[in-house]
Amino acid sequence: MNSQAPVMNGQQTPAVGQPYTRNEAACHDLSFRIRDLNLWYGKNQALNNLNIDLFQKNVTALIGPSGCGKSTFLRCLNRMNDLIPSVRVEGLVEMDGLDVNAPKMDEVALRRRVGMVFQKPNPFPKSIFENIAYAPRMHDLVSRKAEQEELVEKALRDAGLWNEVKDKLHEPGTSLSGGQQQRLCIARAIAVQPDVILMDEPTSALDPISTATIEDLMDKLKEKFTIITVTHNMQQAARVADYTAFFHLGKSLSTTTLK
Ligand SMILES: Nc1ncnc2c1ncn2[C@@H]1O[C@H](COP(=O)(O)OP(=O)(O)O)[C@@H](O)[C@H]1O
Ligand SMILES: [Mg+2]
Repeated sequence: MNSQAPVMNGQQTPAVGQPYTRNEAACHDLSFRIRDLNLWYGKNQALNNLNIDLFQKNVTALIGPSGCGKSTFLRCLNRMNDLIPSVRVEGLVEMDGLDVNAPKMDEVALRRRVGMVFQKPNPFPKSIFENIAYAPRMHDLVSRKAEQEELVEKALRDAGLWNEVKDKLHEPGTSLSGGQQQRLCIARAIAVQPDVILMDEPTSALDPISTATIEDLMDKLKEKFTIITVTHNMQQAARVADYTAFFHLGKSLSTTTLK
């Protein structure tokens, strides 16, 4: 964020990470606190002194031109950048008061709490049922068949997909349409009971009707989850987001609400 706060709509925007306007009825407890975050790929700095607050049970949209570090930033929130060998991170990423980069942080547990949905729907090459039941079984959240069935139905209902797939749960996930596959991936993310769902341009490979369905879904999901989504589209940010962070050249310029 610039030390000189930008002026929007004739009003001075507030200090770092503070909302521009707030709906007092909404939840504004912190989920993530990001302070002085820098990230390098080898010698190239991709994130430059980011300071952002992300609030629980809200939708925060990250917006900005291609290559400005939005995906890199998302991956800092569940340590997916650890999988890239050249990455070096400095600064604080705190979730619910805990330092995400602390050596004692359990990365597997962190990624269960902070799920991710990607731009291109990527169901496993398994049945619709298994796409959802697999991870909860691995995490020992369910074992008996009846428990699995209950969880699969709940996740599919929460993702707004149950009615479309309830009669074909054992068909491959990849047999669904693109928009349905993306909702299947959202159901898969929900099934391990995360706190936060990261979405990296979740609608940019979808048609306008599937996009509208996912946007409506985000509005429902924020009752239970904190949602952080990347979008290229100002209109989408205005439609779905409670907060919007503007990125440019690896910096976050301001955090505001577009509503
Ligand atoms: N795996 C990687 N290795 C090296 N450089 C990367 C990698 N991923 C992204 N970058 C670089 O980091 C910068 C930010 O990229 P990215 O986070 O993908 O931006 P955005 O999601 O905003 O388009 C770009 O300059 C990009 O080339
Ligand atoms: Mg990206």
